[in-house]
Amino acid sequence: MRKKVIAGNWKMNKLKADADQFMEQVADKVPSDEQVEAIVCAPYLYLPSLVEKAKGSKVKIGAQNMHFEEEGAYTGEVSPTMLKDIGVTHVILGHSERREYFAETDETVNKKAKAAFQHELTPIVCVGETLEQREANETKSHVESQVKQALEGLTEDQVVETIIAYEPIWAIGTGKTASSEDANEVCAHIRQVIKSTVSEKAAKQVVIQYGGSVKPANIDELLGQSDVDGALVGGASLEPDSFLQLVEAGAK
Ligand code: 13P
Repeated sequence: MRKKVIAGNWKMNKLKADADQFMEQVADKVPSDEQVEAIVCAPYLYLPSLVEKAKGSKVKIGAQNMHFEEEGAYTGEVSPTMLKDIGVTHVILGHSERREYFAETDETVNKKAKAAFQHELTPIVCVGETLEQREANETKSHVESQVKQALEGLTEDQVVETIIAYEPIWAIGTGKTASSEDANEVCAHIRQVIKSTVSEKAAKQVVIQYGGSVKPANIDELLGQSDVDGALVGGASLEPDSFLQLVEAGAK
């Protein structure tokens, strides 16, 4: 059985004291159940402190982006080597906000995914359609193209380790959640794409999350779907209580 992965994406929120306080309240309350993994993806500045505070707990710490090069003249960037060095284990790649505001492309997502594996970081690769694409019935073809390009050149084992997050852009931060059936249909399609391009084994094992206005009130229904293996959560991951409720839903 695939484990459930609940990842919080704090985006550009919280000050350092709030970040530390969150981890002090959450770290030892996350269930030690093997079937659920809890990840907090925080702004770069807070990562070292969060890694320290999460030590000895089940919480993993992730970044929200990174460069694909190890080092060099890339002012303002953070490399995979740096993340690995401080104890970060996961990195979100290709979030729609980075694609929209920071010129992230399928090509850079693919370079970053390869770089993540070179440095033993687990990528959380985000894909998803706009409202216009959904209305034009292009959801599956768009998501399929994003998945294929992101995973291009990865080995079967690397694809198995990748976490894919299906996040319809129209559902992010809007309070509009995709219906659990719609979310499942696209997650199942992604699994089918992996079956046809990589292998049946990879398709069976890869973790596919849904993201977009997930909260404690709707997570049970989403996780009850056959192909939804977890959630990537923005707003509802910011408060300790609601983050813990989400993780507990994954452990059910
Ligand atoms: P919300 O949960 O706030 O809709 O954000 C979703 C998201 O973008 C997570 O990466």
